Amino acid sequence: MKLRAVKGTNDRLPADQPRWHHVIDAAARVLGRAGVQEITTPVFEFAEVFERSVGEAADLVVQKEMYTFDDRGGRRLTLRPEFTAGVLRAFVEHGMHTWPSPVKLWSHGPAFRAENVQRGRYRQFHQVNLEIVGTAAPVADAEAIALFADVLRALGLRGVRVALGSVGDPSDRAAYNAYLRDALEPHAEALSETSRERLRLNPMRVLDAKDPGDRALVAPLKRPLDFLNPESRAHFDAVAASLDAWGVPYDVDPGIVRGLDYYRRTAFEIHAEGIGAQSALGGGGRYDGLVSQLGGPDVPGIGWAFGIERVLDALIQAEVAVPAPEGPLLFLVPMDDEAVTEAAGIARELRAHARVEHAYVRRAAGKGLRDADRSGARFAGLLGARERAEGVVQVKDLASGAESRLPLRDLPDWAVAEASAAQETTATESTASDAV
Ligand code: HAM
Repeated sequence: MKLRAVKGTNDRLPADQPRWHHVIDAAARVLGRAGVQEITTPVFEFAEVFERSVGEAADLVVQKEMYTFDDRGGRRLTLRPEFTAGVLRAFVEHGMHTWPSPVKLWSHGPAFRAENVQRGRYRQFHQVNLEIVGTAAPVADAEAIALFADVLRALGLRGVRVALGSVGDPSDRAAYNAYLRDALEPHAEALSETSRERLRLNPMRVLDAKDPGDRALVAPLKRPLDFLNPESRAHFDAVAASLDAWGVPYDVDPGIVRGLDYYRRTAFEIHAEGIGAQSALGGGGRYDGLVSQLGGPDVPGIGWAFGIERVLDALIQAEVAVPAPEGPLLFLVPMDDEAVTEAAGIARELRAHARVEHAYVRRAAGKGLRDADRSGARFAGLLGARERAEGVVQVKDLASGAESRLPLRDLPDWAVAEASAAQETTATESTASDAV
C-alpha cells in the first residue's frame, strides 16, 4: 500500500509557506498593536477540558467530532477541536484573573475535528484565535469584532460580511428553545433526522439546517434576537453602536446561532463569497460563565477564531496578491572543481547578511546561470580560474543582465546593501496594506 497523508489532513509545501506566514504575521501585527499577547497552549488536553466547556449539546460532541483517546497511563486525552477551552484552562491555571484586566490573548496553530471532509472542512485545520477575558463591557465585543475585520483588511481582503447577532442570556436561550420546541415538535416527523436530533438537544441549531424542507418550516418562526431580555438587548445595541461609531460595517443577523454551547449574548460570524459550502471565515462570541465552568472565578470573556485555510482560500478567490516564495540574493556557480569548496565557503560567510546558495558541482557558465535563475536568485556569481586568480566574483544581475566583477573583500558590504534595500521595499508594502 502506498503511504499517504490521512484524509482531511494536508501537507504544507515550501511554496505554500510565504502566504501562510503572511496571514499569521498580519494577525500578530494587528493584534499586537491592540495589546493582545500571544499564548501557546498544548495541542492536547484532558478530555474533560473540552467536555466541560463545549457543552453536551454542542455539534462537536453530538457528532462525535472530537479525537479522544486513552494514553498508556490510562488518561483520557483530546486533541483540541478549538482553542478557547485550552486558553481558558491556562487562564485559570496561571491565575490570570489577578493580571491587569482584561487579559487579551491570541494564538495560532492546528486544531482537530473528525468531520466529513470537503472543501474548507478538514480534520486537521488551523486557526488564529483571540480571547479577551475579564470584561463584560460591550465595547470589548465591538473591539473583538473590529480587530477581526482589521486583520482581514490588513490582508487585503475586501467584501467580507460581518453577521452580528445575539443568542441572549441563559434565560433568553431557555425561553427561545421552549418556543422552538412548541413550534416545531408538532412537525417533528417532517424534519430531517439531523434537525430532529438538534430539536431534542439544542433546538436553536435547527435554524442552521441545510435541508430545504427544514428551512421552509423554520422560515416563519421568530429568531433569538426577538427573545432578548432588556439587559441583553441593551448589550447588543451598545455593541452595534460602537461598531457604527467606528465605521465597521456589519449586518444584523437575528438568527445567528453557533455550533458551540458556551455563547452568551453576542454571537457573530464573518463570511466571504465563493469559498464553498463552508463560507464562514470565522466566528465567535461572548462566553460569560465559561471560566467558572472550568473551575476558575466568575469572569466574563469574548473571543473569535478564524480558519487559516479558509482565509487563504478567500484571498485566492478574491485574487488578492499574496507573497510569492523569495529566492536567494546570490547564487554562486563554481566553474571548475577547485572552485566548488571556495564558492560554498563564500556562501557560508555571506549568509551572515543574506540568503546565499551555490551549486554543489562544477557548472559551465550557461548551465550555472540557468541553475541560478531556477533558484529565483536576484544575482548569479560566477567563480572560475580567472576570477580566483584576480580575487573577484563575476556578479550578474539576472533581471537586467548587468555584470560587474566584485572583489571578494567587498562582497559582505555589497550583500548588506542589497539585502537591506530589498527589505525596505517589503516593509513599505506591508505598512501600506495595513492603512485604513
Ligand atoms: P468555530 O466557529 O467552531 O469557533 O470555528 C472558527 C473557524 O474555524 C470556522 O469559522 C472555520 O473558519 C474554522 N474551522 C472550524 N472547523 C474547521 C474545519 N473542520 N476545517 C477547516 N476550518 C475549520 C471556534 O472554534 C471558537 N473557539 C471561536 C471562539 C473563540 N469563540 C470564542 N473564542
